[in-house]
Amino acid sequence: MIWNELKKPFTILAPMEGVTDVVFRSVVNKAGRPDLFYTEFTNVSSFASERGRHDALERLTVKPTDKPIIAQIWGKNPEHFAILAEELEKLGFSGLDLNFGCPDRHVNKAGGGAAMIRTPDLASECIKQARLHTNLPVSVKTRLGFTSANEYQSWIPFLLNHHLAALTVHLRTRKEMSKVAAHYELIPEIIKMRDEISPETKLVINGDIKDLKMIRELSEKYPEVDGFMIGRGVFQNPYCFTDHEPTKKELLDLFRFHLDQYDKHVSEVEKYPYEPLKHFFKVYINSFDGASDLRVKLMDCKSTNELRKVLNEFEK
Ligand SMILES: Cc1cc2nc3c(=O)[nH]c(=O)nc-3n(C[C@H](O)[C@H](O)[C@H](O)COP(=O)(O)O)c2cc1C
Repeated sequence: MIWNELKKPFTILAPMEGVTDVVFRSVVNKAGRPDLFYTEFTNVSSFASERGRHDALERLTVKPTDKPIIAQIWGKNPEHFAILAEELEKLGFSGLDLNFGCPDRHVNKAGGGAAMIRTPDLASECIKQARLHTNLPVSVKTRLGFTSANEYQSWIPFLLNHHLAALTVHLRTRKEMSKVAAHYELIPEIIKMRDEISPETKLVINGDIKDLKMIRELSEKYPEVDGFMIGRGVFQNPYCFTDHEPTKKELLDLFRFHLDQYDKHVSEVEKYPYEPLKHFFKVYINSFDGASDLRVKLMDCKSTNELRKVLNEFEK
């Protein structure tokens, strides 16, 4: 069981829609991988429908270098959780994670993500159905509450009573989005809940964690926490799971690697849009002289070959 194989404190790259796909995971793998990857979230009802299955399967592509990797899934229909859960082991996953934390309005309107905090019976049914249909360990990623941080006092014990393999707590409420500092002050209380209710559940903390150095500091302060998950920190430093401080040249070379992986993926799938690639420019091109001018030039490019040309010009 993957969660028992990871050494404490283990590191995880957070699931991020539009970010942690097969292409970006290979980039992070090259820079220095975390102990565990997660996919972006996949909608269980899309997978269960004939029309959506192809796209859902593409999101669930696993490369050997991604492993071990957890599939993150979301939705509100327990039967659809069952249908997808049944397939994940064959696809190469080491576990599945139910998203009970996404604050997106559309996702919540559809009853998924953080909306589950308000429908605990349904959340319970989704966990049960997923479990009944797979041998893989089932985990949950959630927030402290929907509107008030105090909701964690009942929501976290509720989840722990399901004796999950792992529980990741993003230390904010749905209402707080990512706009306020994560509530680290609640970590000791959450540890206590875990220890009392379900000591076998691995506890993962998430929110504002920047890099490995910070993970070491947090782990020293809270040795009972099993794992730490980094999300946006990877945008500031793709080497965040290592102690390495990359040079400008290394960052530009990593960007070229990203472009190569992008091109490779384009050749393998039906459609993989170019525009979202622009969100990644800042990951590699920041904090050095001329970075913002270079980004402006890159923004005008229309293809990976144009991007490479601009990069080569810059480095001449
Ligand atoms: C662009 C983006 C996409 C995200 N997509 C997901 C997702 O698919 N599933 C999920 O559980 N959380 C998602 N999140 C939330 C992150 O996993 C993480 O909980 C959040 O960013 C807080 O961690 P951080 O402060 O380290 O970034 C997303 C966050 C961002 C910034």
